[in-house]
Amino acid sequence: MPQEAIQVPALAPARQVRIELAERSYDILIGVALLDSAHCYVDLPRASTALIVSNTQVAPLYAARLQAALASAYAKVLLVTLPDGEAHKDWPTLQLIFDALLQNSCDRKTVLFALGGGVVGDMAGFAAASYMRGVPFVQIPTTLLAQVDSSVGGKTAINHPLGKNMIGAFYQPQRVICDLDLLKTLPARELSAGLAEIIKYGPIADMDFFSWIESHIDALLGADSSALAHAVQRLQDFQRQLEFGAGTGASARRTFEQRRYVRGECRPQQHDDPGDVNPDQQNRQRGKSAVDQ
Ligand SMILES: NC(=O)c1ccc[n+]([C@@H]2O[C@H](COP(=O)([O-])OP(=O)(O)OC[C@H]3O[C@@H](n4cnc5c(N)ncnc54)[C@H](O)[C@@H]3O)[C@@H](O)[C@H]2O)c1
Repeated sequence: MPQEAIQVPALAPARQVRIELAERSYDILIGVALLDSAHCYVDLPRASTALIVSNTQVAPLYAARLQAALASAYAKVLLVTLPDGEAHKDWPTLQLIFDALLQNSCDRKTVLFALGGGVVGDMAGFAAASYMRGVPFVQIPTTLLAQVDSSVGGKTAINHPLGKNMIGAFYQPQRVICDLDLLKTLPARELSAGLAEIIKYGPIADMDFFSWIESHIDALLGADSSALAHAVQRLQDFQRQLEFGAGTGASARRTFEQRRYVRGECRPQQHDDPGDVNPDQQNRQRGKSAVDQ
């Protein structure tokens, strides 16, 4: 459908963080009332079909609204509802996504939308990385942990009985849409888990932010949208700086490689857990794009 034909409702003010990864760069939108805003979806890859991946807990709350928002951009908007929980982050559940894609003759342009917490995001991302060797996907994280951490960075995976996140791929989303309104239905325990992540990174990011967390802890615990928006944006900014740091480090290392050291002497030490090593950072540290691999 041509873009001009799409009815765009007024856009709620959203903060935007750009993750610069050359041809895989993408935006993180942070704000309220984003789920229903067609504006968030208009310039995503065009396709006849979109597939929403959600779970039994989140789909009844939000899937119909997302389906309605996507209806102006995609002729067919499908939904696959996975069983809820970490115990289902496995092959049989992943297969449900592929079943839905194949049963509906989805082609390689089909766009996947991950609507859920980190479990749904990791599984939908891995399905997107694998289906027909890669289709576009969008993250709509619905837990605080997923908004500040798992939806960004391109790590996707399922668990194996012998290890967590052992089967996966690095695959970047087209966009991350963090609608803070969605956190209002989050169980208190899950909100606290996300806050713990924010508190953990606070002093690493900067001490001013850590002081800000201390003085706004009640607002954060009360899921106040403007406090959460600031915290989510600050964490995302921090991640962006880490990306920049990796790029700057890569330039310095290349200089050393050319002048004095052989390549292996300049490499960062390998991390033990393959699940934590992001090639979008690692390859740039080696002066090499992930697509070269
Ligand atoms: N890819 C990464 O970089 C990365 C980073 C950190 C964690 N992870 C993964 O993320 C997963 C944990 O994610 P999580 O903490 O979001 O857990 P989760 O996805 O299991 O969500 C927690 C619970 O909250 C429910 N829920 C989600 N959104 C809701 C909402 N808006 N309202 C009501 N209920 C809601 C879920 O259905 C679930 O029951 C783990 O599998 C972990 O390995 C991935």
